[in-house]
Amino acid sequence: MSTNSISKHSFGKVVWKSPSNIALIKYWGKKGNQIPLNPSLSMTLKNSHTITEFAWEKGEGLSFYFEGKEEISFKNKIENYLDSLPYPFLKDYHFTIKSKNTFPHSAGIASSASSMGALGLCLAPFMDNEQDSEFFKNASNLARLGSGSACRSVFGGMASWGDISSQYASPIENLHQNFKGMRNSILIVDRGVKEVSSRGGHALMNNHPCRQERPKQAYKNFKMLQEALINGDLEAFGRVVEQEALNLHGMMMTSTPSFILMKPKTLCLIEEIKSFRKKTGLNLYFTLDAGPNIHLLYPSAQEKEISDFVKGLGVEVTFDEMGDGPEQLSFVGEVCGR
Ligand code: DP6
Repeated sequence: MSTNSISKHSFGKVVWKSPSNIALIKYWGKKGNQIPLNPSLSMTLKNSHTITEFAWEKGEGLSFYFEGKEEISFKNKIENYLDSLPYPFLKDYHFTIKSKNTFPHSAGIASSASSMGALGLCLAPFMDNEQDSEFFKNASNLARLGSGSACRSVFGGMASWGDISSQYASPIENLHQNFKGMRNSILIVDRGVKEVSSRGGHALMNNHPCRQERPKQAYKNFKMLQEALINGDLEAFGRVVEQEALNLHGMMMTSTPSFILMKPKTLCLIEEIKSFRKKTGLNLYFTLDAGPNIHLLYPSAQEKEISDFVKGLGVEVTFDEMGDGPEQLSFVGEVCGR
């Protein structure tokens, strides 16, 4: 993949397609500037993307379009983000950003992960990139500064953040065959607006009674999951992933103020999932984001039996699976001869 780098006196346009991801070990709570309290690990999705066209020329200011329309609130967020970056030379450019998602709004998929992932990738050529590996580290770091979870979207398969570095994510190596192409079906329980933003949720950890204990527990779970992913241990995978999801919701329930983000339907579905697992012995597990929708996780080899069960649950479902990571769709511009 050509990742390119940009002459400081250039103009041009790049288009990146970046996926969303679902966290298996949850990033919850921050210290300093977008530094996570604990290591996290996620699976990159295949079908849920943001496509961002990013054009630059000498000048100043920003034009921003989301799905064809000028979007002032997103534009303000991106302006604040660009202003916050420690790269003053970015102020010498006018940027035109056109962004769209391949998944519907409120579909239980984190759009900040895919959109900030795409933006990080578009901005990375402005950094000095001697090697491709540095390009993706830079893109991940830039994505993190916009939204923590986005730094993991820059890599395919599974990625971790906060273990090797807190500045950028890294791909998980040696993933066992059992986890390759893992399925993620999202049960849409509620399409309502989020009761608490992620930013607000992370801030609840500042004075949380578990602030000291949570990083230790997350680290233990992280290690157990890493081992399960290498050994192909689906049961250990499920145990850790479900515990992480319930921990996240437990922390929100015990925050001040407290939030109950699950709906009665979420609990009913969890019961159904558990009894299906008990009855069939199949490896169907769940995780939850900071909301009521359920992300089902299961091996591709069991897709047939499990997808029949999922379709019979009587809720709206978005089917996705593990993906290969972002893709650069085009690059036009002046390129440094480094
Ligand atoms: C529950 O990455 O959305 O999805 O860094 O403030 O943008 P900001 O937060 P964000 O938080 C994601 C929280 C989570 C868990 C996770 O993805 O690890």
